[in-house]
This record gives sequence, C-alpha cells and structure tokens, in this order.
Amino acid sequence: MERRDAIKLAALAALATTYASAYDEKLLVNKKDMMLKDPAKPTDFEYKHLPDITVGSADTKGYTLVEVSIGQKGIIHPSVDNHWIYEIELYADGKKVASADLEPSTSRGYLAARVNLKDVKELKAVSKCNLHGNYTASIKI
Ligand SMILES: [Fe+2]
Repeated sequence: MERRDAIKLAALAALATTYASAYDEKLLVNKKDMMLKDPAKPTDFEYKHLPDITVGSADTKGYTLVEVSIGQKGIIHPSVDNHWIYEIELYADGKKVASADLEPSTSRGYLAARVNLKDVKELKAVSKCNLHGNYTASIKI
C-alpha cells in the first residue's frame, strides 16, 4: 500500500469513528445476547429491557407503521449518561428492515418505521442496553 493510500485510509477510519456515535464506545460494556430466565414469567428487570412491538395502520402506499418502544408492561428503560439503549434493530421474517442509533440522556429506546408487511409473518426487535446486553422480542402478525 502506498503511503498516501495509508494516510487516506487512516483519515477515513477516523471519520467513520467520528460519525459512528457521539458517546464513548467504552460505555458499551455488555454486548451479549441475553436469555430470559423464565420466558413464561419475565422479571420486571427483564420487562424493562424487552422491546414492545406495535403495528399501526398502513399508509396509501401500503407501508405499515411499526413502533418499537423499549420496556414492556409500562416499565420504560432509562436513558441517562451511563445507562441507556444504544441501538434497536427491527427484523421482518428475519430480514433487517430498520435500526436506530440512540444517544444517552437525549433519546430513549424507541424506533418507528414504515414497513411493507406483505407476506410478513413475524416481526422481531432487538434492544441493546449498554450495561445489560441484548434482549429480543417478537410478534406474529
Ligand atoms: Fe439496562
């Protein structure tokens, strides 16, 4: 690799890091996929991390409103400087259709997307808490 190419690559990598997020990546201390201890009876701690997926109505082009709010049973996950949901992913039949990158304190765990749900049978969302890991929930539609 030419020296000039190496410098360009380093500059691009620095830019990519700058735009990846505003928060310190060192705050992401748990990136593990978490399992519910008893899926039939989640704890309040687990409810706090579980995505709540709701399906709204379709627009005139056939795209349906899908909302994902983090926290079930009215237990909303916090968003403070050292503890927040930093990413939400939404999948339709296993295919990623939307994601949200979120900032501590300024945005809480929420995503909305307009999705073509023709022939889609399952929606799945993954909630990523910087301290407590990744929690998954799905609904049949
Ligand atoms: Fe958490």
